[in-house]
Amino acid sequence: MSKSILSRFGDVTKILNRASFADIKEKITKYEYGSDAFMQILKSRYSCHSFTNYPVSDSKLGMILEAGRLAPSAKNLQPTRIWVVKSEEALARLRTVHPCYGAPVVLIVGCRNEEAWVRESDGINSAKTDAAIVLTHLMLTATDAGLANMWIWDFSPGKIREAFPEMREHGIYGMLAIGYPAEGEGNPTELHNMRKSIEEIVTTL
Ligand SMILES: Cc1cc2nc3c(=O)[nH]c(=O)nc-3n(C[C@H](O)[C@H](O)[C@H](O)COP(=O)(O)O)c2cc1C
Repeated sequence: MSKSILSRFGDVTKILNRASFADIKEKITKYEYGSDAFMQILKSRYSCHSFTNYPVSDSKLGMILEAGRLAPSAKNLQPTRIWVVKSEEALARLRTVHPCYGAPVVLIVGCRNEEAWVRESDGINSAKTDAAIVLTHLMLTATDAGLANMWIWDFSPGKIREAFPEMREHGIYGMLAIGYPAEGEGNPTELHNMRKSIEEIVTTL
């Protein structure tokens, strides 16, 4: 039986995505610790505890959301949903539940267990892991776009769903506040530079 056009397209993308030896050789020689722009993004990120009301441009927001869309998920089931809270009306509604540090944009990340993969060996559902990856993509891309940000997890998902009935079908996983930092304390906090050593967190076997 002849292949459908769609499955032929799948074959072509597989070929295009396959790494050539030249690509691999470049990766081995090019990426050295400390010379990598990505490491600089990781180092410059911190949790911002107070924002100005200076707006976030649509082009930056678009890039951040695209990064969320590109996130991998278990079995590629993509159970995550993102709500962009940026209108005065929606921000006011959100602030009745959480102040969000005065950020002019808050991305609310939700997921549905029913749409996620369940690991057979122990029945663990991947929805929250998938949502955490999406939120991480959003966070690091916001940092790359020069935006301060804050991963917020200490809130009541039930109250968020009460304030936003459109989210009632989803588990509310977390929120990312984004914007420009206000001057003053807490940007970053003293916790920012307190990390365990490599020896404490890594075991090489
Ligand atoms: C999953 C997660 C949830 C968090 N939730 C909150 C929160 O609700 N409120 C808060 O003040 N900080 C929250 N944070 C920020 C952490 O406290 C912060 O990342 C940590 O203290 C290290 O500081 P740094 O992000 O500036 O490096 C959260 C961070 C993560 C990764």
